[in-house]
Parts: sequence; structure tokens; C-alpha cells
Amino acid sequence: MDRKKWLLLGLTFVLLAASLVLVGCAQEEPEAPETDVEEPVEDTGLGIDVVDEWVESGHSKLVSGPAVEEDCVICHDGGAFAEQITDPTELERDWSVATDCRACHSGYGVEVAAKGVVDIPTMAGFEAGKGALCASCHNGRRVPDPAAERRSAPHHSVQSDVLTASGGMPLEGVTYLITDQHAEITDACVACHLDDSREGPPVHTFEPNFSSCGEAEDCHDDPVDVEVVAAADYDGDGSTEAFQDEVQGLLDALDKALLAELGGGAYAAERGAIVFTDEASQTVVPTNELYAATYNKILIEYDGSSGMHNPAFTVGLLQATYEAVTGNPSPGEPFNQSN
Ligand code: HEC
Ligand code: HEC
Ligand code: HEC
Ligand code: HEC
Repeated sequence: MDRKKWLLLGLTFVLLAASLVLVGCAQEEPEAPETDVEEPVEDTGLGIDVVDEWVESGHSKLVSGPAVEEDCVICHDGGAFAEQITDPTELERDWSVATDCRACHSGYGVEVAAKGVVDIPTMAGFEAGKGALCASCHNGRRVPDPAAERRSAPHHSVQSDVLTASGGMPLEGVTYLITDQHAEITDACVACHLDDSREGPPVHTFEPNFSSCGEAEDCHDDPVDVEVVAAADYDGDGSTEAFQDEVQGLLDALDKALLAELGGGAYAAERGAIVFTDEASQTVVPTNELYAATYNKILIEYDGSSGMHNPAFTVGLLQATYEAVTGNPSPGEPFNQSN
């Protein structure tokens, strides 16, 4: 084994120890792993950062409920994912671990990243390169049936569905705008979320690296523009703001329209279903169209990228959904490709 692999192995053991610390304090900020290996790691000038970065990231947070639940454990426990275990009683330990090193650096995680292609419920054969690893967990878990009695909600992890524009519920007479430039980037999620511009392992906070937006040919001339100003006033509030704020404006307008439709009622995603209530907090059955519209709103909200994963799809979906709910044209400008 080369030095890097030894380092990785060593850190994995530290992490195993740290996982023990994590049991019982689910959702809380975990303790930094024990620093027994600090010396050799400091010698290399690499490594210990990776653990610290991981501790800082969402992947160190254990969501305790699903980590011990059948069918949930496979994505909510790093070891179960590596071994593709769906029944928590099959785990050879009685504690849970978060999305730790072994999830991505052993077993199935390594296999699927090398294979570079993964089936997700909304799309067979998503060619995501190393991002196939991420897409294995970060997908919406199901294709909703617009007419089913149970109004199923998107899962929190719909990033792949939005990136590939394969998510979102159809609305009558509407064709959604589809761009897939971001899904086509080599290694998809990994290219944007693991900054590899330094020497040593890529940054393990998994935060997107905006400086990579201009890297490849045909991409953004000035990466800063991506964050700062949208190409048009998509939410129609009279000013052209940051792209993310335009998307937030569209989400707010759609939320208002949905609530107006419910006449003083509310909607909420609870235990995998969208629950609709009236003014008196009694559960009501929405029309198929209102359900689809609410699903689309929650989809974009849960994606968490404020439209960055798929700008054209996001703006188009939110505007069309708004029009379907209100019967009025969206006040915003249509998507403009020039950004
Ligand atoms: C296909 C993989 C997958 C499966 C299966 C899965 N989840 Fe998740 N879940 C995720 C991912 C990934 C996230 C994190 C999404 C994000 O933060 O953007 C998540 C997030 C969550 C959250 C939100 C956690 C938070 O911090 O807000 C809850 C609650 C949750 N899942 C419950 C469940 C339950 C209950 C089940 C089983 C019925 C389940 N999950 C099955 C992938 C999955
Ligand atoms: C969510 C997935 C994920 C988790 C969790 C994760 N890594 Fe990584 N790690 C990656 C990816 C993706 C790469 C880039 C691999 C590549 O480019 O081939 C990487 C690269 C590395 C590298 C560089 C090795 C190489 O061969 O390029 C090291 C070292 C490393 N990770 C250590 C760790 C340690 C230690 C942990 C736990 C604290 C950890 N990783 C957790 C996804 C992850
Ligand atoms: C084994 C399943 C699994 C894999 C593989 C995985 N993730 Fe995650 N990821 C999760 C879960 C679960 C959470 C949410 C933890 C929580 O609720 O805080 C999460 C959280 C995140 C977050 C933080 C979200 C937030 O709201 O703070 C980012 C960003 C992320 N993942 C990106 C990635 C990327 C990029 C990859 C591939 C390199 C990847 N994930 C691979 C399960 C996974
Ligand atoms: C083109 C670059 C790009 C690609 C490809 C990409 N992302 Fe992202 N992602 C972003 C940006 C930019 C954000 C928004 C971050 C912000 O607003 O600060 C984001 C946000 C997120 C978030 C929410 C983070 C949070 O803190 O709430 C998650 C989770 C995530 N991405 C996971 C993924 C996964 C999984 C994939 C692959 C299926 C992926 N991303 C592909 C750029 C990308």
C-alpha cells in the first residue's frame, strides 16, 4: 500500500472510534476525533484537515431515526451503505455511524464511483462519473404517482433529480425547460463539491467551489457573475438580484399562491407524505394538480442549491407551476441562457 492509503486506513480507524463518540449525541456537533495519530499525520502535511473538514460537514451528522430503520439505513449509515445493507439487524455492531470515510472509501462506494453510472428512481443510467457515488444517496427515492391517494413527498435528498431535470411532477400542457450542462460535467457532484485545487486530498467540507465554475472551456467567463447577478428578473419583483435570490423570490410567490388556493389552510411534508389542511386544520384532499404543484415547490426547496444545480429547469418549473396554480402568467421574465 502507498502512503496515502495507509493514511486513509489510519484515519478510518480514528473515525471508527469517533463514531462511538457519536452514538447518543445524534444531530449534535460531533467531537473532533481522537488525535492519537496526529503526529504521523502532521508529518505528511496532509490528512488531519480531511478529518476536521469532514467533522464540519453535514456528513458527520447522524440522523438517528433512519439510521436504525429498515430501508433507510442503507443511506443513513455509512457502513450499511458500503455493504449495501437494508436491514439494520444485519449490521455487525449495535451502534450507528454517519456518512463517514468508509461510506465513500470502501465497498459499494468505491465500486459505484469507479463504475461512473447509477440508476436512480427518476432516471436509469445516470452517467455521473465519480458523482455516481453521491447520486446513490442524493436522489429523491421515488417517482411520485400524481393520482395516488397517498400524496408522497420528495425525500430531502433530491439533488440528482434536479441536476438531471428528471424530477418534478408533470402539469397538464406544460413542457419544462431542460438543460443538463451541470449534469454533464465530468464527475458531476464531485467536480463542484470537492475542491481539488490544493495539494493533497480534496476539501472534505463538500461545500461547492465557485472558482471551478470558469474552469472548463465553454463555461462561465467570470465565475463571480454566477453568484452575483441573475441574467433577468425571474421573480418579477422589479429588480434583477443574485440568481439565488431570484429563485427564492419564485419560491415565495409560489408558496403564497399555494396557500391562497388552500384558503387559509396549510401544507407540510411529514413522514414522506404531503399533508394538506384547511383553515380549521382538518386534513383535506387536494386536486391532483394542486398536489403536483406543491410537490414541485418542495422539490426545489429540498434541492438546497437555490437553482444552481439546474438553473433553466428550476426557473422554468417554478414559473410554470405558479401559472398552473394561479391561472395567471408568471410576472417574471423567462429563463435567459446568457449567464
Ligand atoms: C436513497 C438514499 C436515502 C434513503 C433510502 C433514505 N434517505 Fe433520508 N436522506 C438522504 C440524504 C442524502 C439526506 C440529506 C439530504 C440533504 O441534506 O440535502 C437525507 C435526509 C433525511 C432527513 C433530513 C435530515 C435533516 O438533517 O434534516 C430525514 C428526516 C430523513 N432523511 C429520513 C429518512 C427516513 C425516515 C428514511 C426511510 C424511510 C430515509 N430517510 C431513507 C438519503 C436517503
Ligand atoms: C461523501 C463521500 C466522502 C466521504 C464521507 C469522505 N470522502 Fe475522502 N474523498 C471523496 C472523494 C469523492 C474523493 C476524490 C477521489 C478521487 O478524485 O478519485 C476523496 C479523496 C480523498 C483522499 C485523497 C485520496 C485519493 O486517492 O485521491 C483522502 C486521503 C480522503 N478522501 C480521505 C478521507 C477521510 C479520512 C475521510 C473521513 C474523514 C473521507 N475521505 C471521507 C469522498 C469522500
Ligand atoms: C451514504 C449516503 C451518502 C453518500 C454516498 C453521500 N452523501 Fe451527502 N449526505 C448524506 C446524508 C445522510 C446527509 C445529511 C446529513 C444531515 O442530515 O445533516 C448528507 C449531506 C450532504 C451535504 C450537506 C447538506 C446540508 O444540508 O448541509 C452535502 C453538500 C452533500 N451531502 C454532498 C455530497 C456529495 C458531493 C457526495 C459525493 C461525494 C455525497 N454527498 C455522498 C448521505 C450521503
Ligand atoms: C455545477 C456545480 C454543481 C454540481 C454538478 C452539483 N452541485 Fe450541489 N451545489 C452547487 C451549488 C453552487 C450549490 C449552492 C450552494 C450555495 O448556495 O451556497 C449546491 C448545493 C448543494 C447542496 C445543498 C447544500 C446545503 O448546504 O444545503 C447539496 C446537498 C448538494 N449541492 C449536493 C449535490 C449532489 C449530490 C450533486 C450531484 C448529484 C451536486 N450537488 C451537483 C453546485 C453543484
